[in-house]
Amino acid sequence: MYGIVNKAIQDLVIEQFGESEWEMVKKKSGIDVDFFLSNEPYDDDITYKLAAAVAEVFDMTIGQVLNIFGEYWVLRTGKEKYGGLMSAGGANLKEFLVNLPLFHNRIMLMYPKLTPPEFKVSDISDNAIHVHYFSKREGLQEFVRGLLSGLGKLYNTSVLIELLQTRDEGSSHEIFKVSW
Ligand code: HEM
Repeated sequence: MYGIVNKAIQDLVIEQFGESEWEMVKKKSGIDVDFFLSNEPYDDDITYKLAAAVAEVFDMTIGQVLNIFGEYWVLRTGKEKYGGLMSAGGANLKEFLVNLPLFHNRIMLMYPKLTPPEFKVSDISDNAIHVHYFSKREGLQEFVRGLLSGLGKLYNTSVLIELLQTRDEGSSHEIFKVSW
């Protein structure tokens, strides 16, 4: 994944815990990188090792780490570094989610070597939508849950997020039902 992802994990740890805790995470992860360049692609393994090290150092599950990181990604990285792109995504939560399938097309213009997630939506009603998540990567469903709850907060909308199906149970992809 592009360095901006690893860099955001670093920023999250430093902001919420401190510099020395970040050094502990880096050491525990065993990765041999001093700093991340946002525009350089890195091996996915680095991101997974960082998430696992954060979980170990702060006694959380990897799912909890990914969930917190998903919220941070929307509310800090997205909102502060790509505010224009985020607000162009929609005027409210429903609109943003309806447009989500096209969202990473624009990201690819900035990050051409992106391996983006794929989203589809179905069952759209006045107060709920099904978000289908397809990925070449494993184990990121809690990241998606965190992203979706971050979007709820971004739009000041209280949301209920239910996982209707998952690859963990043999399905082809994840489906999240987002209700508001
Ligand atoms: C301006 C905001 C955003 C930017 C700049 C951005 C950019 C990125 C980047 C750089 C990656 C790493 C992929 C790679 O390097 O190959 C990524 C992955 C991902 N993004 Fe976004 N993204 C944004 C918003 C969102 C939103 C709003 C969602 C969903 C609600 C989302 C869902 C994901 C997921 C699930 C992944 C993991 C990749 C996978 O599942 O294979 N992103 N994004």
